[in-house]
Amino acid sequence: MKAIAFVTQKGGSGKSTLCINLAVAAEEAGASVCILEMDRQATISDWAESRGDKGPEVAQIEAAQIDDVMNQLRNASYDYVFIDTPGVDSAGALAALRAADLALIPCRPTPADLRAFKPTLAAVYRLDKSFAFILNQAPPRSYRVRDASDGLAALGMLADVAVISRNDHQDALGMGQGVTEFNPSGQAADEIRRLWAWVDRRVKGASGKNADFIANRATQGKKYVKAA
Ligand SMILES: Nc1ncnc2c1ncn2[C@@H]1O[C@H](COP(=O)(O)OP(=O)(O)O)[C@@H](O)[C@H]1O
Ligand SMILES: [Mg+2]
Repeated sequence: MKAIAFVTQKGGSGKSTLCINLAVAAEEAGASVCILEMDRQATISDWAESRGDKGPEVAQIEAAQIDDVMNQLRNASYDYVFIDTPGVDSAGALAALRAADLALIPCRPTPADLRAFKPTLAAVYRLDKSFAFILNQAPPRSYRVRDASDGLAALGMLADVAVISRNDHQDALGMGQGVTEFNPSGQAADEIRRLWAWVDRRVKGASGKNADFIANRATQGKKYVKAA
């Protein structure tokens, strides 16, 4: 069982949306997923309620429960536990980060988002967690996306699929679906499937240490400097 936490302080970056869509894509790819929701906003529980009996299973938990819940889940047969968090400055987000094999940090290509992940990154480094940035809600073509990608890649691992801002994400959420269910042949679905394939490889290779990321950062950093 591997645990993936979706973390960043900034609300609206796409933690819950990516958590939902990657969980659905992972199940479509044959994995079993349990989502732990630590955000009282309950975006995912509300979404799950409108799905009826369809997976993935969703449980709302408090920060203090996470160790017990993770121990119980280790005896269950889930391939993945996805943990959705409210933000890194909360006890819940830190507990989730501690429990995670991989931290995913969604970031929109906006100055506010690019500033907001700094405390998250500090916590990730302090806990020596493997992590990756995911560029989300990117406009289809913009210098901002290139600048943000270059900047994020220089700081650490950046997923090689940028998730573009698309209506499918909002429409699917409202209908209790993932984008791969809502519009299986759409571009949002294609991006999410490719992103899941990338994350799946990443989490299987995650050692819990940052050595690989630091090595990668060195090479990506060089690329960044060269491109600048
Ligand atoms: N790639 C995307 N394209 C379009 N809308 C998106 C995308 N990602 C997220 N959203 C929308 O942005 C809003 C905030 O996303 P959410 O996942 O709730 O952020 P967070 O959990 O980080 O606060 C939601 O209304 C969601 O539907
Ligand atoms: Mg959320």
